[in-house]
Amino acid sequence: MVQKICRKMLVVVTIMILFASIQSLASAQISEYQRNPLSGSQVFFQKGCAGCHSILDVGGNIGPDLGKVELNYSFFGVASIMWNHAPNMLNKFEALDISFPELSSEEMNALITFLSYLNYMERPSDPERGRELFTQKKCVRCHSVGGIGGNVGPALDRFRPYQSPVFITTAFWNKAQKMAESMLEMGIKRPVFEGNEIMDIMAFIRENAEVARGDYRRIYTQPGDPKAGEALLAKKRCTHCHNINGEEKGIGPDLGKSDLRISFTKIAGRMWNHGPKMWRAMSKENIPVPKFSETEMSDVLSYIYFAAIQERGDNPLNGELLIFEKGCNSCHPIAGKGGDADLAPDLAEISSELELNTPTKVITEMWNHIQSMGLSVEEVGMAWPTIDSREMADITSYIVRLAKPKP
Ligand code: HEC
Ligand code: HEC
Ligand code: HEC
Ligand code: HEC
Repeated sequence: MVQKICRKMLVVVTIMILFASIQSLASAQISEYQRNPLSGSQVFFQKGCAGCHSILDVGGNIGPDLGKVELNYSFFGVASIMWNHAPNMLNKFEALDISFPELSSEEMNALITFLSYLNYMERPSDPERGRELFTQKKCVRCHSVGGIGGNVGPALDRFRPYQSPVFITTAFWNKAQKMAESMLEMGIKRPVFEGNEIMDIMAFIRENAEVARGDYRRIYTQPGDPKAGEALLAKKRCTHCHNINGEEKGIGPDLGKSDLRISFTKIAGRMWNHGPKMWRAMSKENIPVPKFSETEMSDVLSYIYFAAIQERGDNPLNGELLIFEKGCNSCHPIAGKGGDADLAPDLAEISSELELNTPTKVITEMWNHIQSMGLSVEEVGMAWPTIDSREMADITSYIVRLAKPKP
């Protein structure tokens, strides 16, 4: 029993640490849940999800480790994944005699928000791989770590205490142009970064740097604030060239559409990789290359992440088509039409009765009825109707619209 409680504590504490860097998300368009994705980690734990799923090795191992699968999570993306996996999950629930976790719409919102932020979290890093990269990418020709390496650029030992990648990525960005110049001089190809490479290099520096006079500090950062990030994007004139989920501006790519549902260091890596082209565009547009403080960097990148995971435009008309295509309407009547009222409730009626006025509420109802829906799908010999993330946005917005206006 004690062991079990300790394990539970470990899960909660670990998740709290993992999320310390993205805790306070705040913006006018951001929900309460998104301002505090941690609340969702508690639902994840309370509802027994952690009994079957780990997040980065902490938790159960019956289902996949949700911190490790690369799912490009978005709000509707998570909802669709949970829906599509329902039959398999249900089998496991039955086999293990676990009662199905019903959720309130608040819990659903918190849970989905939590899961949709998993991609912003850094993956575990590998110092040995970092050592190889430090040589392969020729950093070692100009920089030393632990006394080994060149002295064209400063020694990198000063980054040892920093647990958060924001310090090195900010320094990297601020010095990027000068670095590019000395690379050109020395005939060294400018490196680009993929995947977890920045994290691996950081891990190498942390393990091998000289410790300055007993300085064993571990320095974390303040979490990013996307609301401040939004303002900074305008202030630093990024928005001169980039839109966020808007019309193309024709100079830089739309950052909301750029598939940047990736971790902090990966977004920073993409900025670095695009650096030279961006600088050329900046000099053409007479915009000075902006420098960042660490806080500004976290704010801007958290906003870019937030913008990238927003589902763009739901289309209730398409939702109406999908209700037929997916066979929902062969069981559910809609305002008395089609379906079989003995088999399944009328979707227009339940939308009014249960006041399903947000997609989250619809998703919650769907989830809580998965068991009986699963049985009746089996009965009529249908395959489980899978729904992708866009379809989930369209279908749920259609069901929201079905509610009769209140007299
Ligand atoms: C009884 C064990 C069990 C519990 C409890 C459980 N799951 Fe699962 N879950 C699974 C299994 C098994 C799969 C894999 C199913 C498959 O591959 O189709 C899965 C798959 C998933 C996936 C898709 C992962 C992927 O790689 O595609 C998500 C997301 C998920 N579960 C979320 C949750 C959430 C949220 C909860 C808590 C409300 C939860 N699960 C509770 C067993 C469980
Ligand atoms: C051709 C030489 C050269 C190469 C190769 C090079 N750098 Fe640099 N780097 C520099 C110079 C020069 C500076 C300092 C620029 C300045 O002071 O404005 C610098 C600055 C930095 C800084 C900021 C240091 C600080 O204290 O603020 C970091 C971090 C950094 N480099 C990391 C790297 C990494 C990691 C690699 C390999 C991927 C790399 N550099 C490759 C020359 C290089
Ligand atoms: C003068 C125009 C201009 C300004 C100002 C500008 N950018 Fe860019 N940006 C570009 C261009 C052009 C590209 C694409 C470069 C390429 O294709 O290599 C780009 C690419 C990017 C990318 C990579 C996108 C992707 O799809 O991988 C990110 C992230 C980015 N910019 C962020 C910013 C931020 C943050 C700012 C403000 C600090 C900013 N940019 C300011 C022109 C600009
Ligand atoms: C094979 C028949 C069948 C199909 C196909 C089906 N459902 Fe259901 N659905 C049911 C049953 C049965 C229930 C559970 C009713 C209950 O438990 O009271 C249900 C419940 C629901 C609920 C919750 C209703 C409530 O009372 O809160 C929603 C929302 C819903 N389904 C939407 C859908 C959507 C969207 C589709 C298509 C992707 C779909 N259903 C496909 C049979 C079906």
